[in-house]
Amino acid sequence: MKRWLSIVLFWVSAFLITGLTVGLPTEHSAVFSREAVAADHAEASKAGAEILSEGGNAADAAAATMLALGVVNPASSGLGGGGFALYYRASDRSLTFLDFRERAPRAASPTMFEVDTADAEGPASSPSQLGGLAAGVPGEAAGIEALVERFGKLSLREVIAPALRLAEQGFEVSKALGAMGSAFAIQLSKDPVMAAWDLRAGATLRRPSLARVLRAFAEKGAAVIYGGVIGQEIAASVQEHGGIMTLQDLRAYRVRTREPLETNAFGYRWVTAPPPSAGGFTMIQSLSILERAVGPRPSYGAPLLHAMAESWKGPFLDRQRYFGDPDQVILPLDKMMDASRIDARAKLVADGKAHPSADYDLPIEWTGTKVAAPDNAGTSHLCVVDAEGNVASVTTTVNLPFGARFTGGGIVMNDEMDDFASGIGQTNAFGLVGGARNLPGRWKRPVSTMSPTIVFDEGKPALCVGASGGSRIVTAAQQVAMNVLLRGMSAAEAVAAPRIHHQGVPETLRVEKVAPLDSALQDALVALGHRVEPIHNVANVQLIYIEQSAERKLEAASDPRKGGRPAGR
Ligand code: DON
Repeated sequence: MKRWLSIVLFWVSAFLITGLTVGLPTEHSAVFSREAVAADHAEASKAGAEILSEGGNAADAAAATMLALGVVNPASSGLGGGGFALYYRASDRSLTFLDFRERAPRAASPTMFEVDTADAEGPASSPSQLGGLAAGVPGEAAGIEALVERFGKLSLREVIAPALRLAEQGFEVSKALGAMGSAFAIQLSKDPVMAAWDLRAGATLRRPSLARVLRAFAEKGAAVIYGGVIGQEIAASVQEHGGIMTLQDLRAYRVRTREPLETNAFGYRWVTAPPPSAGGFTMIQSLSILERAVGPRPSYGAPLLHAMAESWKGPFLDRQRYFGDPDQVILPLDKMMDASRIDARAKLVADGKAHPSADYDLPIEWTGTKVAAPDNAGTSHLCVVDAEGNVASVTTTVNLPFGARFTGGGIVMNDEMDDFASGIGQTNAFGLVGGARNLPGRWKRPVSTMSPTIVFDEGKPALCVGASGGSRIVTAAQQVAMNVLLRGMSAAEAVAAPRIHHQGVPETLRVEKVAPLDSALQDALVALGHRVEPIHNVANVQLIYIEQSAERKLEAASDPRKGGRPAGR
């Protein structure tokens, strides 16, 4: 393995470490009777809850929570990033998926990252991860505006207010941010804005340059970030850092509305992220395989964990082979989900042996090389449930910690370009193998694992769930959902329970150090042929369980692995 690659993998693992070393704290959940917000930072949950108490709905509160997260944890998300929102509107029972993912600049090309990275220094420092070329055109501000304008009740100015207050008055640096700050201190010291930050846990941090952007956003809307003075500053900074993004790229950015993916499994309707996420697809294919392989009411134990690990191998291979930006690449989703394929994979899963992932490779009869014409066109998960029954499930990201580790217009710029394949067969920071359809290209969106999900029970929303943590997002979110829905755990127990992860390549079953799997279970998995590798943790999950009882009960939990706390009333 190249030295820089091992450095990257080391630091990605470090990124997933959140300052907690042994065991998990327990004050991460709460039960509410009216409305709830579960984010991975207490101040962000509070910002959302404040907006709900002022008459805003789940869309307004989700926007306020995203904005606050961008202030209090710039390592994970912010206006320089992008994300996905799945929104359930109770009044007409509609489901909308907003894709505000970053996309490549116009001048991007499939070979742009085929460069010699032998000289890369420090953590996550290849050209798709650090500096101007790493930054995709951000989608966050456009996504927030779309969410509020389409579904919200309040004005943009009102939903921005809590974040603006945090940026102006300051907030306490969390352990998670402090840990990231010291891991990336040398790179941050090279940026004039970030160099001035005191990122020691417990210190007070104010963000005046971001406050200026938030004020402009409140006054003029997202246009100021995509074309106005802030946009000009972003484009200039990207170019100074060796990037190719222009003001035209910012002006041309568009949020896309997409049909979510869904399946019925284990008695529930699961609705989740469509492409360019491969996470949602991985979840629904895994659930379909599992239901066939282990039956509708599996009990928890080594056979179920084994089946889960096996069920993910096929979809991760499909991702590598077939996934790309759905605006530019035609995806054979129906063929990938064909019953005969699911049956074939389920049969292998059910035979009780750990298979090499190649056994699950089922190329499909399809000459889908056709490419559609493009139209003109670090991470955090949060859940909101409001008193009207609306649900927002949102995952937002700058990809790696502090994104590309430079600011433009005071905003931390993402390094989402690392989610593209830097070359066919090359792995990215999360060890995901790149395929031809996911090479960079003009205004293309990179494939993601983000999987904001809402699960329905007899037509009513029962669970909002999602995660941050790269390729582990989907496996973690699915397990926590199954813990609640199939194992009957409370939200608090479900999120704290040990998790496993398998992504086909490498051929290792990851278990958590921070929440160790029962040793008898682990031995049983080894006996089935799994190569077990302990890693610090498997992603960070936020969820709200809406209990289907006469009395309204919302169980909200923030993952103790990242130290967040929910809020509500
Ligand atoms: O879209 C994706 O799949 C990645 N950019 C997510 C990165 C991530 O979750 C980082 N970890 N917390």
